[in-house]
Amino acid sequence: MTLSSGPSPKVRSPMTVPRLVKMKGRERITMVTAYDFTFARMLDEAGVDALLVGDSLGMVVQGRESTLPVTMDEIVYHTRAVARGTQYAHIVADMPFLSWQPSVERAIDNAGRLLSEGGAHAVKLEGGAEAAETIRRLVSCGIPVLGHVGLTPQSVHAMGGFRVQGKTREAAARLLDDAVAVAEAGAYGIVLEGIPTDLAGQITRAVPVPTIGIGAGPECDGQVLVCYDLLGLTPTLRPKFVKRYAELFTAGVEAARTYCDEVRAGVFPAEEHGFGEVKREGEESAPHNGTSNRTAGYGPTR
Ligand code: KIV
Repeated sequence: MTLSSGPSPKVRSPMTVPRLVKMKGRERITMVTAYDFTFARMLDEAGVDALLVGDSLGMVVQGRESTLPVTMDEIVYHTRAVARGTQYAHIVADMPFLSWQPSVERAIDNAGRLLSEGGAHAVKLEGGAEAAETIRRLVSCGIPVLGHVGLTPQSVHAMGGFRVQGKTREAAARLLDDAVAVAEAGAYGIVLEGIPTDLAGQITRAVPVPTIGIGAGPECDGQVLVCYDLLGLTPTLRPKFVKRYAELFTAGVEAARTYCDEVRAGVFPAEEHGFGEVKREGEESAPHNGTSNRTAGYGPTR
């Protein structure tokens, strides 16, 4: 395939499901997780095609051991914040643990909330052939679904830990069948997580929709990373499949240390960070930041 380097930031229009599907075999799809307004703004500005409000927020934002405790209300809350910070990217919200399995009705209610209350454009759910009927029903309601097969973190206990999946021929064949079932049910794409590179390539060639890999090698149609990993905000975690593009945890520690030093030394705040003096009778107040408004510096900077 001939791959372009993606849309120029100057000519961006909002990403849509049909555009993502068309990208298969033409342009690689970029997806990054986002959980709040500011990160969404930053990633959107960078030209990331799709933002995933992943239940990984349970681990990187809430500090939990797994994604299992994350609730529907929490995903709705974070999706809303992400939607406010996004102009261009396609927004996918994760269906939390057991938010779709009890019944198709429950799945429709919960997925619907992510679109109507959260402002997501699509939902993602973890599961293979067993999720096919639910995916079919959601899609028939106009809810785009991104599948997720392979290492599915919500099944951490069944898998015996966060382990690479599909390593034997039988397991690989099952995962291929799962991916095909998810695509046939109407998913517009499939996340492939934690599986061997050649199996990810085989699945990518077997399904008509884009595959988006994480720990699944370079043969997928796109890639997704957790934003905290990509930016180096997870100092104690260095999974093999992650490439860090910055070291923001270290930079943050340095910045906060310098702040503490400066406050303790009386260096910050300096004169220019203050709001001058109380004006005397009949006097205009001293200008700050080029304006005579006494609240200058408190308004939004956008
Ligand atoms: O929750 C999440 O962030 C995910 C990605 C790792 C694909 O599901």
